[in-house]
Amino acid sequence: MDHFLYRDGQLFAEDVPVAEIAAAVGTPVYIYSTATLLRHYRLFDEALSWGPHLVCYAMKAASNQAILKTLAEAGAGMDVVSGGEYARAKAAGVPGERIVFSGVGKTREEIRTALEGGIRQFNIESEPEMRVISEVAASMGVIAPVTVRVNPDVDAKTHAKIATGKSENKFGIPIARAREVYAEAARLPGLKVIGIDVHIGSQLTDLEPFAMAYRKVAELTETLRGDGHEISRLDLGGGLGIPYTRSNEAPPLPLEYGAMIERELGHLGCEIEIEPGRLIAGNAGILVSRVIYLKEGEGRNFLILDAAMNDLIRPAMYEAHHDIVPVSEAAPGVEQQPFDVVGPVCESGDTFARARDLAPLAPDDLVAFRSAGAYGAVMASEYNTRALIPEVLVKDDQFAVIRPRPSFDDIINRDSLPEWL
Ligand code: LLP
Repeated sequence: MDHFLYRDGQLFAEDVPVAEIAAAVGTPVYIYSTATLLRHYRLFDEALSWGPHLVCYAMKAASNQAILKTLAEAGAGMDVVSGGEYARAKAAGVPGERIVFSGVGKTREEIRTALEGGIRQFNIESEPEMRVISEVAASMGVIAPVTVRVNPDVDAKTHAKIATGKSENKFGIPIARAREVYAEAARLPGLKVIGIDVHIGSQLTDLEPFAMAYRKVAELTETLRGDGHEISRLDLGGGLGIPYTRSNEAPPLPLEYGAMIERELGHLGCEIEIEPGRLIAGNAGILVSRVIYLKEGEGRNFLILDAAMNDLIRPAMYEAHHDIVPVSEAAPGVEQQPFDVVGPVCESGDTFARARDLAPLAPDDLVAFRSAGAYGAVMASEYNTRALIPEVLVKDDQFAVIRPRPSFDDIINRDSLPEWL
């Protein structure tokens, strides 16, 4: 459920007409709903209320300071994957003890920064990384709390580019080798093993792959405890999918996900961490764009928008589907026509949808891409020197620009010339 609904034929973000925001801020623009963000965070929090837990929002999904602060004030922790994300989380007021650090390539500098600023745990992704964390922590005279990310070799049954739990993926340590890795972790100075981490992929629409992975984690917990390790925390990653179309089968709800976790892992008495990103932010954001031209092609009609692949890369990168809806609803009974919906960037990949049935639209009309809150603005680029588009946060009947659109001068002045030019 989200808070982008029609009232009298006009799309609203909570209590604000989307057209009003577009008029004030210009297009394209990302618009987020505070109520949806909080609702989704709380659904996870409640789904795990059967035991000690922390929901660590995977901020890679949408990392604007205002979004982070909204979630942090509600009690969320953060899952970060870079020094930049760590700095963003801290700047938004997230205490170090609520930040977990994931990612396969943590540098010495990032590890040091996190140890200085406070960290709940590092999720170790490889033995070389484990040794570096040990070295850095020992040289600082501190203890780094760690889990080891295991790769359970489970097929997440999602798009290949966002599956992470098969042995051919670069993530984690093969679960079969976990015992020797934990044994080394226990011997190394500066490390305190506290648990196990697993994350098998993103946009999972079925609970079974999760359950398979979690069963392996349960078994490993018992084995490692038998070996004398203290396993008191299980980080189960993110990945629960969202409905990208109104019509397709709905993925499982956070409540069902939480109940499955209790079933598979509840008996172990561990603190549970999860790292959802998409489910919290995805349907909490839309991308609003204006029609520039309608163009008749041979056997097809193009709808040319002012948003492009640099603003929302998901369709070009993952063949992802985003529902595209008019901001002013068409009159009932109006016949839809198929359009190829494209942006102004100079490549054919700049196509949001092919032969998408839409009610007739005219230049200057506004459309909204639904489910664009996660992996939208954060994956944007300035390709074709198109400015990063602004972000707006709505709360009830108020809205605020939470990232302004840069001017062309702002963009150009970031470059500097060598002295010989
Ligand atoms: N934890 C780890 C270690 C991750 O790698 C990810 C996502 C998450 C949590 C959050 O997963 P989520 O709950 O959002 O599914 N750009 C792609 C998605 C990439 C996901 C990368 N890792 C897309 O637009 O579909």
